[in-house]
Amino acid sequence: MLDTQSCLPGQNDPLPEGRIVLAPMEGVIDAAMRRMLTGLGGYSRCVTEFIRVTDVLLPERVFLRLCPELATGGRTVHGVPVYTQLLGSNAQALALNARRAVALGAPGVDLNFGCPAKTVNNSLGGSILLKYPSRVADIVTAVRDAVPSQIPVTAKIRLGYDNCQALPEIVEGIRRAGATELAIHARTRFDGYKPPAWWSRVAAVVRPGDDRTCINGEIWDVADSILARRASGCRHVMLGRGALAAPDLARRIRAQAAGIESPETLSWLELSQFVELQFLRSDSQSPKHVGNRTKQWLAYLKRSYPQAADLFGRLRTLHDVSPIIAAFAEHRRHLANCDHPQDFFCRADF
Ligand SMILES: Cc1cc2nc3c(=O)[nH]c(=O)nc-3n(C[C@H](O)[C@H](O)[C@H](O)COP(=O)(O)O)c2cc1C
Repeated sequence: MLDTQSCLPGQNDPLPEGRIVLAPMEGVIDAAMRRMLTGLGGYSRCVTEFIRVTDVLLPERVFLRLCPELATGGRTVHGVPVYTQLLGSNAQALALNARRAVALGAPGVDLNFGCPAKTVNNSLGGSILLKYPSRVADIVTAVRDAVPSQIPVTAKIRLGYDNCQALPEIVEGIRRAGATELAIHARTRFDGYKPPAWWSRVAAVVRPGDDRTCINGEIWDVADSILARRASGCRHVMLGRGALAAPDLARRIRAQAAGIESPETLSWLELSQFVELQFLRSDSQSPKHVGNRTKQWLAYLKRSYPQAADLFGRLRTLHDVSPIIAAFAEHRRHLANCDHPQDFFCRADF
């Protein structure tokens, strides 16, 4: 049960339009996914998967591999900016790498203070830094100072490591260090990804009129986006797994916020073609992990589209390109037999 059930949105009660940010998701949201999702509309910004920084300046190819959009002005083909996400604990090394990302064309730099992975935390990266608010602030200061003032530096945190006590100190430090925007995943590291997300706990650090804080966690539909903003006091939302489960969620949130009729929900027939396109553009290109991103995406799609289970079942045990392509074709035949009269089409513009 969410902690915000008491404030259900009224029908004629659109909240002011804010930014909608596509959350970074390691292993799922790569350039092909960013292209697809921003093509469906609604997003103000995306973030790359994280670039792990130890104590060296990384070669340019690392940035270009994780953010191929750097070659096209740091934007997806649909014009949405892609910030480069850095993860690490060495402030000077992070600053140097941030400068390199910007020199390569990154329109912004995002700092990861939320990753719960043990391997990352053991080397003092991600959410473990939330135990040390002054180190978080020092990192933001170093990165802010290293890149031109017009380049946004954003940070992403959780409520804390194992409790929320340090949240005000962490947030105050990040703001004083000059971060342009802060996304708060409304759970501690201890909470992991377990529902609920404690949106109302974010309200303690959001002042009236705040335009620099973004609420994140458990936003699966338009109603959640309203509840999350209202409970947290944030104007902006960041969508993670909800964007995977419902790829047109951002444009539906936008429509609601603008008080206009929501575009029709994507049909599974359309969406299954996007999934195939995503496989061809992304997963079929990485020999070691063929199909992994597609399978992860399908696992989330099952939440909104029961038909995704059929495709997921066909792909689950496959690890090579040709059988996967054949499985997509079988699924298409299965859909045709299930009374879907439309022709298959390929949306190359996505
Ligand atoms: C598979 C996966 C990978 C993620 N990778 C990152 C990451 O690289 N950087 C980061 O800051 N957060 C990462 N996150 C956290 C999400 O950005 C987001 O904060 C979290 O999923 C909560 O939002 P949601 O409930 O809308 O999914 C990841 C989450 C998932 C599920």
